[in-house]
Amino acid sequence: MIKKLRVYPQKTPLKGIITVPGDKSVSHRSVMLGSLASGTSYIRRWLPAGDPIATLEIFRQLGVNISVTKHSATNWDLVIDGVGMHGLQPSAEPLDARNAGTCIRLLAGVMAGQKFSSVLDGSEQLRKRPMKRITVPLAQMGAKIDSTKGKAPMTIEPTELQAMTYELPVASAQVKSCVLLAGMYANGETVVIEPGAARDHTERMLKAMGADLTIDGRTVSIKPVDKLNPINLTVPADISSAAFPIVAAAIVPHSEITIENCGLNPTRTGILDMLEAMGATFTAQNKRKTGGEPAADVQVQFSEMHSTEIGGEVVVRGIDEFPILSIALSQSAGRSVVRDAAELRVKEVDRISVLAGELAKMGITMDETPDGFSIEGPIRLNGAEVDSHDDHRLGMTLAIAGLIADSPTTINEANCIADSFPGFVETMQALGAHMEWIE
Ligand code: S3P
Repeated sequence: MIKKLRVYPQKTPLKGIITVPGDKSVSHRSVMLGSLASGTSYIRRWLPAGDPIATLEIFRQLGVNISVTKHSATNWDLVIDGVGMHGLQPSAEPLDARNAGTCIRLLAGVMAGQKFSSVLDGSEQLRKRPMKRITVPLAQMGAKIDSTKGKAPMTIEPTELQAMTYELPVASAQVKSCVLLAGMYANGETVVIEPGAARDHTERMLKAMGADLTIDGRTVSIKPVDKLNPINLTVPADISSAAFPIVAAAIVPHSEITIENCGLNPTRTGILDMLEAMGATFTAQNKRKTGGEPAADVQVQFSEMHSTEIGGEVVVRGIDEFPILSIALSQSAGRSVVRDAAELRVKEVDRISVLAGELAKMGITMDETPDGFSIEGPIRLNGAEVDSHDDHRLGMTLAIAGLIADSPTTINEANCIADSFPGFVETMQALGAHMEWIE
């Protein structure tokens, strides 16, 4: 059922201590690599959102026994009986990644190394997203991939993979991970050179599982992998989900909130750096490591913010956070400019032009450029009827914008929020936010 979310002007500060669900990137990878391990992996606080559930069901379809303990709608534990590097079973049915770009692109790397053929597909939305960025390097390794004009569905036939050195044309963790995963099955050392520090969860997890992987600056090398050791990990909270309550607290006067055990991998903390450059302040307490990933309790409060110029290396470290950042920019004094972010145009939707269209309905003028946008703040927002375009992060961005609008906001097609953040509405309500599902 298509659900609508109604958000009301927030008249009281947001206050409280919350946990947000587990990291989506780590959750996808834990299922893929746990399935390929020799032995049983234990994953706690796994994210039961639409995207990683697609990965989980695909690996079940490939013959992996994964048992689930559902603690709540936002927190599952998994026990994965790994089948080893060569133990996956062919599936007669296509593998359906639904809306999940991470699932289909990483999966292509794994499937390219199998001794059987497979068909990788996804939703109408995923079928529009570019796949040449992975089919080109995989083909260079000798993979036999057939795709419709560089888009899903993709058919992958068995072949021997050749090791190679690949210089990534875009800073993309999905492409880097795809090549490294295929590299596990190649006939020698596979080397990936990345232009910027894209998230490194694949590298961290592979190393923790005993793969022969080395990192030297922007160069990552992997030797063929015969065996992966099982993992035992607690998934840290997803900073990309935490970003929504964080920005909400920074823009709703007198708010002060804490996010417990928030993942703080330096390849993911661009949002905190960008908000700090605008005058927001954070404290990180109880620093720890969770599943090889740095984490801490992050506290944030309302701040008077000013404009900023964003570009360069921070962009890839906060690539998923530009929709919600745009709301913070709209409340900051002066003209802010975002550059080097053309990748936003090939996410779930074109997150520059689609967002500009929806924010215009709420009174925000977002001036588009080919690789970014600019916003002049502070802007008073009006409530409106807006649409998520089936993009979870746009849905949540519009909901947070609704809190500072002068009349109620209705977000259509808001159920996609559960693609990455099940329990978003309940979590915001726990902070005192005035929002509810209306159908
Ligand atoms: C992801 C990488 C990013 C990000 C996506 C998750 C991952 O995509 O936008 O939400 O888990 O590897 P790109 O690597 O294509 O930039």
